[in-house]
Amino acid sequence: MRAAGRHAIDLVVARFTGVRDRPPLRVPPPEALRAVLDEPLPEDGTDDLCAVLDRVTRDALAEATRLDHPRSFAFTPATGNFPAVLADALAAAHLSVPGAWLVGAGPTQLELTTLDWLKALLGLPEGAGGLFVSGGSAANLTALAVARDRLLGDDRTGARLYCSTQAHPSVARAAHLVGLTRDQLSVVPADDALRLDAADLARRVPADRAAGLRPFAVVGTLGTTGTGAVDPLDALADLCAREGLWFHIDGAHGAAAAATERGHGLRPALCRADSLTVDPHKWLFQPYETGCVLLRRPELLRATFDLTRHALDSDYLGPTAPRGAEVNLSDHGPQQSRGLRALKLWLSLKTFGARAFRQAIDHGMDLAEHAAALIAAHPELRLVTPPGLAVLTFRYHPADVPPGWDADRAQEFISRAVCTEGEALLLTTRVRGATVLRMCTVNPASTREDVAHVLGQVARHGRRSLAEVRESAAPKGP
Ligand SMILES: Cc1ncc(COP(=O)(O)O)c(C=O)c1O
Repeated sequence: MRAAGRHAIDLVVARFTGVRDRPPLRVPPPEALRAVLDEPLPEDGTDDLCAVLDRVTRDALAEATRLDHPRSFAFTPATGNFPAVLADALAAAHLSVPGAWLVGAGPTQLELTTLDWLKALLGLPEGAGGLFVSGGSAANLTALAVARDRLLGDDRTGARLYCSTQAHPSVARAAHLVGLTRDQLSVVPADDALRLDAADLARRVPADRAAGLRPFAVVGTLGTTGTGAVDPLDALADLCAREGLWFHIDGAHGAAAAATERGHGLRPALCRADSLTVDPHKWLFQPYETGCVLLRRPELLRATFDLTRHALDSDYLGPTAPRGAEVNLSDHGPQQSRGLRALKLWLSLKTFGARAFRQAIDHGMDLAEHAAALIAAHPELRLVTPPGLAVLTFRYHPADVPPGWDADRAQEFISRAVCTEGEALLLTTRVRGATVLRMCTVNPASTREDVAHVLGQVARHGRRSLAEVRESAAPKGP
């Protein structure tokens, strides 16, 4: 066991220390992977666990895109951290299951303590509570299931849930999963800054109610995936209070910013939300799956998820009924058996301290500001959306372009060329109908040089796209 354990740790350390050694983008074709990995069920085992660890690391785990590469600026870059890896191993060894107190008392208390730390980090009210879930999607789903039960009961007729066009698709999927039809999700346009148009919503809700519909909840996004925009959360909180609606904030990307001093302005809205999605596997540097849902009134989770509420004709769980101050987290969310996701965050907070987390989050925002300044000063680049919570979008677009140069296609070309070169990962998205390059700078290991390098690549490939158009337009010789 020890030899294999040491070997596994060596592999882990090699991953952390060698993250720049390979290109960030790695997308092998399915046939190639099948050829290497497809094999019959192994009837007999092996004594050489080290060899198996080597093989699976090489053939499967390394055959993936490195979102933790410091020049990976696509999606939400992930980082993970070494204590969190150890946390997962320890929790697995102890079969830690913070479900019923009878089975997992210590793990449950550890999860509750970690939730308190997370609340302290983000400035959330003492009374808030919740649980760790697999990610932002599961957190949104959990919150909306509670909102549905609280405000609609069993009758979904005429229900209306509101979010903006910029909300993450997991919100629409959660609406579907909690039993709403597509037209019961009212998608509100975004304003020029790509934030939910609160004035439009303020007109919609009473109009819907007057039409006999049943508005029940609003989802505001704290850091949209595309541009890092923050919906007008204070105005949404006011509206929800006035109209008696559930207010959910999807802070999967952006809630972490509330930990920093410059993000303190977000805190009042977070404190007023009925529910909040936080996703520590994004900007709190945890490995997957570390998501979290927090409610201002956590006792409402039990109204939806308490297993006794759903009991059929068996009572094998009877002995697990909590006594006194005991807590069964399996009654607070959709999972009965659940892993101790909290330990990753607990151990990394213990190891690095909250200050290091705040500094790392600040670094992401500083880097985005720096990228924006470089773009603004560059004659061939144009900022499309300003840095919002460490996300910015821009285009390669010099003032003087040849006729026939298609700006949208050029951004695609540049993104492909950058990725193919193998030094960075930079993808496109669409903003107000135009294709743009999107950069998310939350990785604490990314440096100003990394940003400058990628912008240099963008300009170089952009010029190539111009040259290709000029060449194809040039008169051909006789
Ligand atoms: C705003 C927002 N909400 C929800 C999600 C979904 O989170 P997860 O991938 O952890 O399920 C994302 C992921 O990018 C996101 O950016």
